[in-house]
Amino acid sequence: MAELHERIGRISPSPFCKRDIMNTDTTPSQTEQAQQAARQDGTPLLRLSNLSVTFQTDDGPLPAVRDVSFNMPHGHITCLVGESGCGKSLTAKAILRLTPDNARLDGNVILDGQDILRLPQRDMRNIRGRRVGMIFQEPMTSLNPVLKIGEQVAEPLRLHLAMNRTEARNEAISLLTEVGIPSPESRYDDYPHQLSGGMRQRVMIAMALSCRPELLLADEPTTALDATIQGQILRLILARSQERGMAVLLITHDLGVAAQMAHAVGVMYAGRLAEYAPAHELFAHPLHPYAQGLLHAAPSARSRGLDRLPTIPGSVPSLRSMPAGCPFHPRCPQAMPLCHEKMPPFFDLGGQHKVACWLHGTPA
Ligand SMILES: Nc1ncnc2c1ncn2[C@@H]1O[C@H](COP(=O)(O)OP(=O)(O)OP(=O)(O)O)[C@@H](O)[C@H]1O
Ligand code: SF4
Ligand SMILES: [Mg+2]
Repeated sequence: MAELHERIGRISPSPFCKRDIMNTDTTPSQTEQAQQAARQDGTPLLRLSNLSVTFQTDDGPLPAVRDVSFNMPHGHITCLVGESGCGKSLTAKAILRLTPDNARLDGNVILDGQDILRLPQRDMRNIRGRRVGMIFQEPMTSLNPVLKIGEQVAEPLRLHLAMNRTEARNEAISLLTEVGIPSPESRYDDYPHQLSGGMRQRVMIAMALSCRPELLLADEPTTALDATIQGQILRLILARSQERGMAVLLITHDLGVAAQMAHAVGVMYAGRLAEYAPAHELFAHPLHPYAQGLLHAAPSARSRGLDRLPTIPGSVPSLRSMPAGCPFHPRCPQAMPLCHEKMPPFFDLGGQHKVACWLHGTPA
């Protein structure tokens, strides 16, 4: 474990830090301060309860996300981490009911007391974009190729915040500036294909933040960006969260980013939460063997050569060949006979630390 602590201490330094935010020019307005004060009562803004996504296929149901439960208080940043294909994006899309048509959603997604999964379609318009902003993993799929990028940022401002054309244009230019688009006045009239991939991603971030959402779902928001812009974007998200009490679900492969941004971290494996804990606890004492393996495998600034980087042997099982019992057992160095037979429930260890592993609980 000492070696693990040393490795976590060495997780690649991201080019930003929570305290850097103190240097940004983001003085909250009196209204925003009042909103923030009103949100200090600890009531979660969003509660996910047994959220499941199941694809209905010709071969039968394929569960892709299973029984994901956690709370997101106002102003908190929750990170979801895990290998490719473990269900991070589907979890975020399910919150906004943006999953494919053949996906069935079960469980509850309670936003401020309202279950999003049971709202009529017409009420979703006020949720999507207005109350909940989403930065998609694939920027091109959510930008309209035949609409100028400035208009795409300004449109939600007119629609949801009733700004007139000039106000919306000015606000859009200010948002484009905040996300680091150079010469935003002239770029306003560009079409998406005239922008680089990183710029398109930044336009989408501006769109997601435009209506001052209460909740931001950010799916790998900075993957296409260089280190300097990445720091700028993450600082912006952190500032919005701190000033306005915006809750953030941040999906990232970068454990350095998670370590510095998150209040809480959920580690996903094969569509389930393997472990969920306050960030400092997860990085100091990961309990699930998969979480331990993930942290061991994190590249560090001092890694010397790829051959020295530890990996988790094997790969994430496909939805069609999910093993019985604990889905991690074929790769787990600590698997026991029970693990091959029974799926471990989510054991609550207290202090918001939960883990789905038979090493930390016994069958009922
Ligand atoms: N439209 C779909 N039809 C069938 N299966 C799907 C569909 N979309 C996603 N899946 C499957 O659901 C699982 C979870 O996908 P998801 O996109 O949530 O993974 P992820 O954790 O976001 O991965 P990554 O880190 O690569 O983005 C994967 O096995 C994926 O193949
Ligand atoms: S339940 Fe068993 S196989 Fe699964 S992570 Fe825990 S020890 Fe490993
Ligand atoms: Mg994804």
